[in-house]
Amino acid sequence: MAQTFLKTMFGPNARALQEADGSRASYARMEAQAGETDILTERELAFIAERDSFYLASLSEQGWPYVQHRGGPAGFLRQISGNRLGFADYRGNRQYMSTGNLAADDRVSLFLMDYPARRRLKMIGHATTTEDPDTIATLRIPGYEAVAERAFVIDIVGFDWNCPQHITPRFTEAQVAEAVRPLRAELEILRARVAELEGR
Ligand SMILES: Cc1cc2nc3c(=O)[nH]c(=O)nc-3n(C[C@H](O)[C@H](O)[C@H](O)COP(=O)(O)O)c2cc1C
Repeated sequence: MAQTFLKTMFGPNARALQEADGSRASYARMEAQAGETDILTERELAFIAERDSFYLASLSEQGWPYVQHRGGPAGFLRQISGNRLGFADYRGNRQYMSTGNLAADDRVSLFLMDYPARRRLKMIGHATTTEDPDTIATLRIPGYEAVAERAFVIDIVGFDWNCPQHITPRFTEAQVAEAVRPLRAELEILRARVAELEGR
């Protein structure tokens, strides 16, 4: 669960605000149960396997938070083993900001959204990049054309789920196509019927 995530992420200011708000005691109980890591369970792994994108935050060498989008076929972010995840990083704008950031500080946040189900998962971890062809090969998705320049390997330290509040459901083209499939089929039947009645 989220105990290690919370213990790692709460700072003195957040704890003081929790104290003032009356939420500190319950969070302190959770923090007391924190271990080395929050262990990823089937629930998180199934959610991760369904995602076709996520947001990746790293720290610039000047200390600025840097957020970038990563996308690919569903399941492109995958479990390598235990709490270790990885993905093949595709050639982009050749700015290498995330890769450069990780060379100085390996801490990352990942933010995964399921808009239709209004679920979100945040994770923190230590990440490295590698150009090792074998690692890249195991993380490439067969049939996906993009050029994989490197692999990101992330050791997850903690995670937390959020509530569905304020998430507007959004759907991919494939999900919309699936939803309107019965309507299309019915339209075809009705069109054929009209044509028949009109003697066409
Ligand atoms: C030709 C090209 C131009 C791009 N331009 C931008 C851009 O202006 N801004 C941006 O955020 N991403 C842009 N992208 C997408 C990024 O390159 C891609 O998300 C990459 O993974 C960014 O990695 P980084 O932010 O870690 O360096 C572009 C991709 C390509 C192929």
